[in-house]
Amino acid sequence: MSNGSEAEHRTALVFGGSRGIGAAAASRLATDGFSIALTYVSRPDKAAEVVSTIEAAGGSALSIKADSADPAAIKAAATQAAEVLGKIDVVVVNAGIIRIAPVDAFTLEDLDQMLAVNVRGVFLAIQAAVRHMPDGGRVITIGSNTAVRTGTPGASVYAMTKAAVASMVKGIALDLAPRGITVNNIQPGPTETDMTAGMIERLREMIPLRRVGQPSEIGALISYLASDQAGYMTGASLTIDGGFVL
Ligand SMILES: NC(=O)c1ccc[n+]([C@@H]2O[C@H](COP(=O)([O-])OP(=O)(O)OC[C@H]3O[C@@H](n4cnc5c(N)ncnc54)[C@H](OP(=O)(O)O)[C@@H]3O)[C@@H](O)[C@H]2O)c1
Repeated sequence: MSNGSEAEHRTALVFGGSRGIGAAAASRLATDGFSIALTYVSRPDKAAEVVSTIEAAGGSALSIKADSADPAAIKAAATQAAEVLGKIDVVVVNAGIIRIAPVDAFTLEDLDQMLAVNVRGVFLAIQAAVRHMPDGGRVITIGSNTAVRTGTPGASVYAMTKAAVASMVKGIALDLAPRGITVNNIQPGPTETDMTAGMIERLREMIPLRRVGQPSEIGALISYLASDQAGYMTGASLTIDGGFVL
């Protein structure tokens, strides 16, 4: 962190840290020396697995059940993380969902759920975390390259939610700049996780580098944004997608 010595104990809260990109974020930040809190909603087994892996490697982690569609749960998770860890130096807001359907078939229920988790949940997670964040902290969101190029039919709502994240990051970066807190957004392209299960081969064909990304590659960018070296970057949306949007 830009505000402390390397020897200082650093902490990170990952919203949606039980699987995929969020699990990679938690593991990578633990390897970097952060104590970790992570949230999950449906897979306590996977959350426990991430915690065990971190602990087995000599790190420290706790998991918290918190639905990112529930404002009270988000706030309580940040409070619990801050109580246990002492503070939140870095927050990674990764929890996100996808529902695919063309505009004439998209249900109101799915629309509301997407907005609740992918947009309102992101804003509220940042709001809750920065109340426990020292000056010089880091906010990192996981958007999507669909904010730049939707790419396939049926993804209008998903792309809309991720464009909202890219947009909110700029405004929040301005809000938090006086505290030296940086706010940046990572926009992955197709990455091999449960979210893309069964789609990998089709997606691979659409990517100039002819492969999908690995969660660890997104974890490496998260590691950089969380580091002292990234202190001059804020309000940015960084696309990491094998050239898909080009
Ligand atoms: N994979 C891709 O190709 C790709 C590309 C661009 C952007 N992204 C974005 O990257 C993020 C992670 O995607 P992923 O592929 O790793 O997804 P994933 O494999 O489906 O994992 C989703 C993670 O988010 C958590 N989560 C989902 N809904 C939640 C909720 N309501 N409250 C709290 N946690 C919740 C899940 O918790 P449980 O385990 O408890 O369910 C899980 O830890 C998402 O924001 C996604 O939109 C993914």
